[in-house]
Parts: sequence; C-alpha cells; structure tokens
Amino acid sequence: SASGDDSGASRGLWSSRFAFILAATGSAVGLGNIWKFPYITGENGGGAFVLVYLLCIAVIGVPIMMAEIYVGRSGRHNPIGSMRLVAERNLSSPAWRISAVIGMIAAFAILSFYSVIGGWAASYIGHAAMGDFTDGTAESIGKLFSGLLASPKQLLAWHTVFMVLVILVVSRGLKGGLERAVTILMPALFVLLLIAVGYATTTGHFGEAVSFLFTPNFKALSINGVLIALGHAFFTLSLGMAIMMAYGSYLGRDVAVGRTAVSIALMDTVVALLAGLAIFPIVFANGLEASAGPGLIFQTLPLAFGNMPMGGLFGALFFILLLFAAWTSGISLLEPVVEWAEENTNMERAGSAIVVGVLCWLLGIASILSLNVWADFAPLDMFARFEGKTIFDLLDFFTANILLPLSGLLTAIFVGWFVAKESLKADLDLSNGTFTLWLNFLRFVTPVAVVIVFVYNLLA
Ligand code: PHE
Ligand code: NA
Repeated sequence: SASGDDSGASRGLWSSRFAFILAATGSAVGLGNIWKFPYITGENGGGAFVLVYLLCIAVIGVPIMMAEIYVGRSGRHNPIGSMRLVAERNLSSPAWRISAVIGMIAAFAILSFYSVIGGWAASYIGHAAMGDFTDGTAESIGKLFSGLLASPKQLLAWHTVFMVLVILVVSRGLKGGLERAVTILMPALFVLLLIAVGYATTTGHFGEAVSFLFTPNFKALSINGVLIALGHAFFTLSLGMAIMMAYGSYLGRDVAVGRTAVSIALMDTVVALLAGLAIFPIVFANGLEASAGPGLIFQTLPLAFGNMPMGGLFGALFFILLLFAAWTSGISLLEPVVEWAEENTNMERAGSAIVVGVLCWLLGIASILSLNVWADFAPLDMFARFEGKTIFDLLDFFTANILLPLSGLLTAIFVGWFVAKESLKADLDLSNGTFTLWLNFLRFVTPVAVVIVFVYNLLA
C-alpha cells in the first residue's frame, strides 16, 4: 500500500531527523531572515508586526510545510513525480502535478537572481576584511555599492563563484553533498550569529533594539503590513517552491512530520529574531534609520562597521554569515530540478547538477545586466502595472507574488481535499485533535489567506 511502503528508500535517506531539520532550516534561513525580516519589521511597527508574522507562520506556514513534506515522502520521487503518484493513488487527476511544476519553475528562476545577491555577500567579505569600509561616509560606501551594481564584470565574477559553490554541493548528492554541507555550515552560521548578537550588546543600544522588536505598536501596523507578514511567512519558510517536497522525498517513515515542521519554523523564526537583535543595536547606535529598506545590509551596516572598533573583523564575519545562509538556500533551490533531471533524463546526479546549474547561471546574466546595461529595458512597459520594471524586478515579482502562492495554494487544496483522510492520518501520525486542527487549517484558513494576499498583490 501507499503509506508505510519504504521501497523508495533505496534512493537514499537523510541519516537522521536532525540532518533533515538542518537541511530544511538551511533552506529556510537565508536573505529573508537576515536581510528582509529586519527591514520589514522596521518599516511596519516592530513588535506588532512580529506578532502577526508569528501567527502567519503558525497558521499558514507550518500546515503547508507539512503538506509539502507529506507529498515528497509519500511519493519518494522528484516533486513532479511525487505529486503525480500521490494523485493517482487517490484517484485524482495527475494534472495536480502542476503545483510542483510551478514550484520548480519558481525555484529555478529564483536561484538565477538569488545567486547574484549571494555574490554581493561574497564580495563584501573581502571589502570588510580589507578595511574598505573603514572611516567610510555614506557617500563612499554608497559608491562602493553602486560601483558593484554598475559593473557587469564584477557581478558576473561573484555570481559565478556563488553558483559554482552551489553546484559543487548538489553534484555530490544527498549524503556527500547536501548533508555534509549543512552539518558544517549550519552550526557555523549559528555561532556567527551569536557572535554578532554578542557584539551588538556592546553597542550600548541593545535594550532599545529589544523593545523595538518586542513592544507591539499596533498603530504602526497597517493592513498592508499584515499582508507583508503573510507573504513573508511563505518566502521565509521556502514554501511553494517544491523544496520541501524534494527534501521530504529523502525523509524516513519513522520521522514525525508535524513536530519536525514546527522545529524548522521555530529555528527559522529564532534566526530572524536574532538577526534583528544583531542588526538594530548597530542601527540605533549609529543613529541610522531602522526602516532603511533593502539598503540596510549593503549600505547602512557597512557604514556602521566602518566606524566602530574591530568593525573590519566583525563586518567580515557578518558577511560570511550572510554567504553561508544564502549558500544553503541556493543548494535547496537547485535540488528539486536536479532531482527531476536525474530521474527523467539519462544524466546522473553530477551531470544533472552541472547542466541545470549552468542554465540557471545563464539566466542570472539577465538579472546582472538589468542592474546596469539593461537598466532601462522594461520588457512589460506597455502594462502600467509593470512600468519601469527590469528583468530582475519582473523575475522577483512573478516568482514571489504569483508562482509561490499559486503553487502553495494548489498543494494545500490538493492535500487538504483530494488525498484520503485515512492515509494522511496514518502517515502523519498526529493525535486526533491535532490532525483535525491541521486539516481544517489546510482546507479553509490557508487557501483563504493565500487568495487574499494573492489578489492584493496583483492589484496593489
Ligand atoms: N527561505 C529563504 C529566506 O528566507 C529564501 C528562499 C526562498 C530560499 C526560496 C530558498 C528558496 O531567505
Ligand atoms: Na527564512
């Protein structure tokens, strides 16, 4: 029968529940935690936003993550194959696999520009270590950043470095590649983050950051803020990209999916909050703007690092942290498509990783050129909604606002309504109460919430 059958285990399994948690947390913890979470919190009223965000993680994020892991572990194939198998077993249309197709297209497209940003992090390690930020002014550090963005050569070099790092790991497969990388990188990332927080406590503005993050100011929270929290819950947990399906396909039957998903969400949230505690004290100590937006990490922080004792050292450590976080996420973005190529072409693992990785690298060049040579090229300029948006902007917009929610929505509806309750119950091994709660979230709350964000993002 479908559940309980572990024949697929011959394709390899994570060595332990912990290894899976590390890998999934490695995917989840990324630029979203360290770069985006602090600044959207800054823009939306601190503690009140954090509260809404936590609610979204619990009510939308965890249930969808469980559904994705369920599909992967149940199907024991690449995400498209798993969706099809699970659909067929439940006498549903194999067309449901469209949710995995959409997720994989999103993963591929996201990796193409995520790698460009990962490259920025890599290049900033050198800048910090060489003292390029020392005694910097807003102007000199702004120039450093705009200089990087204006140079296709530099961007291409760092994009290539990042993509090679990702391909190297994924080409070595589950145990020798993914698992080995995350067991080194994730503990290192936690240590670096704790060092960063420790450093932040010496600025004399730690208490201010704590009250900023944890004192709810509901007046500063708008409807828009609530929707941002919801959208971010998706992105930060790496949902709607077929990633948890791919990673779940290597998960042992004995692992409790519910508790595991909760652990991953918790770790991701802890890292986001720690990142806030590392960054805001520096922001306040230097009289910088807490809602500085996307520039916070690449412009505001270097300015602070350049003007504090041992800022070169701590700046370099900070960007190493950022690179590790982006690297483990990049690995997870490449894995679903590589798993698919491995199972559906005559290429082996290494060949699949190289071919898919190189194609993604090529697409990344379009994002690089969008920052300079093609900065004025807006392919969808004829639509008011997309006026002035470069290829980079469009890739970001379509993946985050359309593909991810669509894939997540379809997966939630499929697992919630079209998979037999008994097999879900047997597979997930939850108590009656928890199971009912989870299924109702997945059936009603999740789809409604996702549709609201979806429509809002399209109209806004
Ligand atoms: N979850 C990652 C983050 O928070 C982003 C990401 C999205 C990573 C999709 C991989 C895939 O930064
Ligand atoms: Na995240």
